[in-house]
Amino acid sequence: MCGIVGYIGKQKALPIILSGLERLEYRGYDSFGFCVFNSKPLLYKEVGKISLAKALAKIKSDGLIGIGHTRWATTGEVTKENAHPHSGCKEEIFVVHNGIIENYKQLKEKLIKEGHKFKSETDTEVIVHLIEKYFKDNLEKAVTRALKDIRGTYGLAVISVKDPDKIVAARLSSPLIIGVSEDEFLIASDPSAIITTTRQIIILEDNEVAVIKKDGLTILKEEKELKKEPEMIEWDIEQAEKGGYKHFMLKEIMEEPNVIEDAIRGRFILEEGNVKLGGLESVEKKLREINNIFLIGCGTAHYACKIGEYMFEEYADILSQSDFGSEFRYRKPIVDKKTASIFISQSGETADTLGCLKEMKEKGAMCLGITNVVGSSQSRETNAGVYTRSGPEIAVASTKAFIGQLTILAMITVYLGRQRNMSLTEGKEIVSALKKLPLMAKEILIQAEEIKKIAKKYNKYKDFFFIGRKYNYPIALEGALKLKEISYVHAEGVAGGELKHGPLALIDKNCPTIAICPTDAVYEKMISNIEEIKARKGPVIAIASKGNEEIKKIADEIIYIPKTLEILTPILSVIPLHLFAYYFADSLGCDVDKPKNLAKSVTVE
Ligand code: G6P
Repeated sequence: MCGIVGYIGKQKALPIILSGLERLEYRGYDSFGFCVFNSKPLLYKEVGKISLAKALAKIKSDGLIGIGHTRWATTGEVTKENAHPHSGCKEEIFVVHNGIIENYKQLKEKLIKEGHKFKSETDTEVIVHLIEKYFKDNLEKAVTRALKDIRGTYGLAVISVKDPDKIVAARLSSPLIIGVSEDEFLIASDPSAIITTTRQIIILEDNEVAVIKKDGLTILKEEKELKKEPEMIEWDIEQAEKGGYKHFMLKEIMEEPNVIEDAIRGRFILEEGNVKLGGLESVEKKLREINNIFLIGCGTAHYACKIGEYMFEEYADILSQSDFGSEFRYRKPIVDKKTASIFISQSGETADTLGCLKEMKEKGAMCLGITNVVGSSQSRETNAGVYTRSGPEIAVASTKAFIGQLTILAMITVYLGRQRNMSLTEGKEIVSALKKLPLMAKEILIQAEEIKKIAKKYNKYKDFFFIGRKYNYPIALEGALKLKEISYVHAEGVAGGELKHGPLALIDKNCPTIAICPTDAVYEKMISNIEEIKARKGPVIAIASKGNEEIKKIADEIIYIPKTLEILTPILSVIPLHLFAYYFADSLGCDVDKPKNLAKSVTVE
């Protein structure tokens, strides 16, 4: 989510680090910092965007080694103190880090008892204090020892004045590459930061630790040395920014399994069949009293709200209603002490959603947020909330952020449910099923080529219906929205049962329907809907549960998704629809990332 750049070699490190960081800013970062060794370490941090010229005019350094970071806040607000690099009690060791340290609170408590002084709110800072604690005379040994105490994910780079001629880098589930050139090495979280200097790269794999000196590189795994040869990357800058994918949207869809993983990371208490949501701790008692919830959002976030409505009612026994931000404004919601409102927004800046938040605050309702952008207006205005941790989303059409929102909603459902009537067994069942979702999501993405073929086959049609029931009704709405917004064909989402009340009049051989029909409580009813469509010669693409052979008899195309609990199916069933919309629009040559007439963040009402 954040960006890392490091340099060691014969050139001045600072300009190389700063231009690398500047190249990473396309992902929308909020603060940055670096540490370069001159005779003394030069540590610099700032909130806001990097201005290379300004920074270079202000700061002089001849240092030949350094590390830098652009932050996209996850733990801790956007402040100078929270920007990286972080140092220990003494300004001797410096760390930049991407990822999430799950057990940072416990580690921090312990380190404070041992006398360590913390300067930031970040999870990262525990890493540097641990390294400081274990440091004797060798940096890689201290890093390796510190990593044994850590639970979570990391891509990190460390330098120390006490072992000054090396960068130590390590990776677990957070990308890190090493650029190799003559007598110099770069390190980065993203190839776009370094490919203007070198195209020879070594990809660091999980649990590998690299010790990078200006005259050589050692890669260690479980303290044993590995031999790795550099490979050539042919990407140009634009491709590199998109991780090699043609569009940001495709890259973001491909990140969906990681989004689930990041959203749930460190937030489960499996033995209690519950979740731990730090952002809701301050309102825990009040939430027990709540008997009425409004869920408000716009666009894709609104469909997340709709699914939340089903989730809260079924599993937490709370009366729930969702609405568009733009419509809720005209209602007269009945609000009392037992009313909560949840605002869902990727950006946290959507004017209609913020307008409702202001009104609900004035009415005295508890206001909670599910937001992706830390420090956004929404996260500042709400009483409490949960961050989705989905990483920057660049494509205008929201995809991975939606997956993050649904994952958080499922966790809040468990939280509210366990405060009320949800049994330990049921809580455990949902939490265990959530844990399996990232792998299941990956299983769907493996079918990307198949989905692409189907999308191409259907790209001559100009009208589509998407149908679903219960949890998958809002998914039908989202599937249709995605298709129309990026490919400009007409697509309509309909509740399966409503077909016969009107839309069926439009069904014929020229109007395909995408039917979301996993094997769940409403499966039989969905099959009846598909039969109604087939009787009118409408082509049908079914999103069905793996192992469902029966569906082959009626659907023209089938995309299978793995089986999970009904409440969690929307998190999986939407993935093929995101891919379908993407490949459909791309096959028509549309500007997928920037659809006409639309904006990523709508800050006007
Ligand atoms: C715009 C975007 C949509 C997004 C909606 C809500 O319309 O194009 O993709 O779903 O805003 O944005 P938010 O940031 O509040 O989730």
